[in-house]
Amino acid sequence: MEQPAIGTIAVIGGTGAEGSGFAWRWAAAGLDVVLGSRSAERGAAKAAEINARLGRPAVRGADNLAAAQMADVIVLSVPYESQAGILADILPALPGKTLVTLVAPLLGEKKNRYTPPPGGAAALEAQAQAGPEVTVAAAFQNVAAHHLTDPEHAIDCDVLVCSDSRAARDIAIALAAAAGLRGIHAGVLQNAAVVEGLTALLIAINIAYKVRDAGIRITGIPA
Ligand SMILES: NC(=O)c1ccc[n+]([C@@H]2O[C@H](COP(=O)([O-])OP(=O)(O)OC[C@H]3O[C@@H](n4cnc5c(N)ncnc54)[C@H](OP(=O)(O)O)[C@@H]3O)[C@@H](O)[C@H]2O)c1
Repeated sequence: MEQPAIGTIAVIGGTGAEGSGFAWRWAAAGLDVVLGSRSAERGAAKAAEINARLGRPAVRGADNLAAAQMADVIVLSVPYESQAGILADILPALPGKTLVTLVAPLLGEKKNRYTPPPGGAAALEAQAQAGPEVTVAAAFQNVAAHHLTDPEHAIDCDVLVCSDSRAARDIAIALAAAAGLRGIHAGVLQNAAVVEGLTALLIAINIAYKVRDAGIRITGIPA
């Protein structure tokens, strides 16, 4: 299948373990990446760290709004609790663009017990806040950050991708492929509620089996 053009990717919250891990993988694959942070200095410092590892100036750092303005595809990688505030900050840069959210709501004291957020799913809340001019896809909620920056470590899981837009799902699936993962069309954005819930379930499995990166694999479809 032909891959969609991705253009520049902004990773909002790209200084965190999950966002910086994917940023590193996408930059290593040759994609143009800007790391967003609430502090331009923190964004630049994390970008410099990734560039030092890659041995080339592949990643830039900026504040979240500037990063979103530079990008064609915006990846939201912040804690659920700060999603609404950070989205409000970057909202002017979003119309006409695709927002890929990997936010997994882990509410309450026990992260291994799933509690749905008030809007049914973090991704649905993001779509409601961003409005119809922004196309939201949910992806990567079930990928543990732990091994993302280890090039020797194959990430043993699939990426379930939900969006009301086929084109947005294709973009998220291309991002998964660039990171060395198989993306799976998993239906409409409403289904993100299931995918987000699986994150708490995977944490419960991690605890039960004393591992750090239990993952989801879909069987029964062509590899
Ligand atoms: N870590 C994992 O293994 C994993 C796995 C699956 C899904 N996820 C999901 O991916 C998202 C990002 O995960 P993460 O582990 O990278 O998160 P994190 O390190 O806690 O946060 C990511 C970045 O968000 C920014 N941020 C904005 N508001 C914040 C606040 N109130 N407190 C802390 N940081 C804040 C910070 O960047 P600045 O300070 O630079 O602005 C931070 O570096 C989350 O929604 C998480 O549920 C994570």
